[in-house]
Amino acid sequence: MATIILGVQWGDEGKGKLCDILSSDVQICARATGGRNCGHTIVAAGVSYDFHMLPSGLLHPSTTNIIGPGVVLHVPTFFSELASIEAKGVVNAQQRLKVSTRCALNLDLHAVVDRLHEGQLGKKNIGTTGKGIGPAYSSKADRSTVLLGDLLDDDEFGDRIRAMERGYKLRFGGDLAGYDVEAEIKKLENFREKLRPFSIDDVEFLEEAQEKGQKILIEGAQSALLDNTYGTWPYVTSTTTTFGGVMAGLNLNYRKIDSVIGVLKAYCTRVGSGPFPTEDFGDVGTKLQEIGHEFGVTTGRRRRCGWLDLVSAKYSNSVNHYDSLNLTKLDVLDTFEEIQVAVAYRHPDTKELIRGFPASAKLLSRVEVVYKTMKGWNATTTGTKKFDHLPKEAQDYVTFIEDFLGVKIKWIGCGPKREDILTR
Ligand code: GDP
Ligand code: IMO
Ligand code: MG
Repeated sequence: MATIILGVQWGDEGKGKLCDILSSDVQICARATGGRNCGHTIVAAGVSYDFHMLPSGLLHPSTTNIIGPGVVLHVPTFFSELASIEAKGVVNAQQRLKVSTRCALNLDLHAVVDRLHEGQLGKKNIGTTGKGIGPAYSSKADRSTVLLGDLLDDDEFGDRIRAMERGYKLRFGGDLAGYDVEAEIKKLENFREKLRPFSIDDVEFLEEAQEKGQKILIEGAQSALLDNTYGTWPYVTSTTTTFGGVMAGLNLNYRKIDSVIGVLKAYCTRVGSGPFPTEDFGDVGTKLQEIGHEFGVTTGRRRRCGWLDLVSAKYSNSVNHYDSLNLTKLDVLDTFEEIQVAVAYRHPDTKELIRGFPASAKLLSRVEVVYKTMKGWNATTTGTKKFDHLPKEAQDYVTFIEDFLGVKIKWIGCGPKREDILTR
């Protein structure tokens, strides 16, 4: 059976922590989309781990971890991240890590181009992570890139990279910020034999696992509002991060999917550019940012912060159809006298209530937000293990979210540590 974990908002909801917790009970943990733009921090047994390319299930010694074909693979990051978790004492990580030969490579060339493109956009840039994710997926879609399978089995894979480099030079002019194509090809050749033992035919591997009845957990990357189709386009990532992306990026038997879990932060954050209706530029935003330690794991940028937006969360549920939710970081709200929640948007010109969720980033950046104000609980929730032990106002907050979205909140995060979670 398969369980899928997906982000409800703009990423960084705490998917990694839930994935870590649920991984203890599965045979396989897999990634289907994204790449090294992800940053999942897990605090386990006093140690903090940052995952980017690799699945968070690696922390559990009996879990096999798969990087599925929908992920764009940056080979040097694969090895540096593996070395860094091994240095922190993760055992047998090499034997438990597999990567699909169908993964398209995310090259250093793509990262150079990502930054050049952002530079061209100037003030209207996307605020990408600068890791080359957009160019990597674009060159997969336009069929110019190299797959892991090509690196392993095609001696002429370098010609494709040279052709890509020539194309980018025509587009951007100059020397592509000093990028050295021959050095990148050489570097990849040197990785070839090191990569071979990790490489699998994911279709065969997962078919066999599913036939044996193994439990599979899929760790989502990014989130619904960063999805290339359903997100706040163009301020999104370059792939499908919603349910459909998991099906396209991993060979799952859809009949065996038993649960889709949405991870929802108790307030909103966003890194990079783009509309954010509940963003707070004053004390509330600063307080959420500071108490929540809201800094990007991948780029170290300060995350923009604001109140929970149930309009976008409802839309996210309409796209992903969550079976249950993990509400995270409830503890960050512990010291607020009052808490606000967005329950509707009004059109900025007509003042009429907007139905659905605007497709235009411009309109979304101008909507007027209708808030419901709730009483804060002014008490510590960290470490609470039972719903009934939460302060009454915190219980009301959770129940209000559940009722508004029509989805049960099954887990509540009350602190960063692995054990700081309440299961209902
Ligand atoms: P992801 O990208 O969705 O995996 O989330 P990130 O790891 O980027 O960001 C979530 C951050 O919040 C991490 O630093 C987690 O350790 C932390 N975190 C997760 N759940 C909780 C929680 O319930 N309370 C608090 N205070 N921190 C949490
Ligand atoms: P996790 O998995 C938060 C954002 C970037 C930028 C936009 C496009 O940790 O939730 P990209 O480099 O993907 O082309 O950037 O998407 N972004 C994320 N924001 N969490 C992430 O991942 C993100 N991955 C990309 O900040 O706005
Ligand atoms: Mg993150």
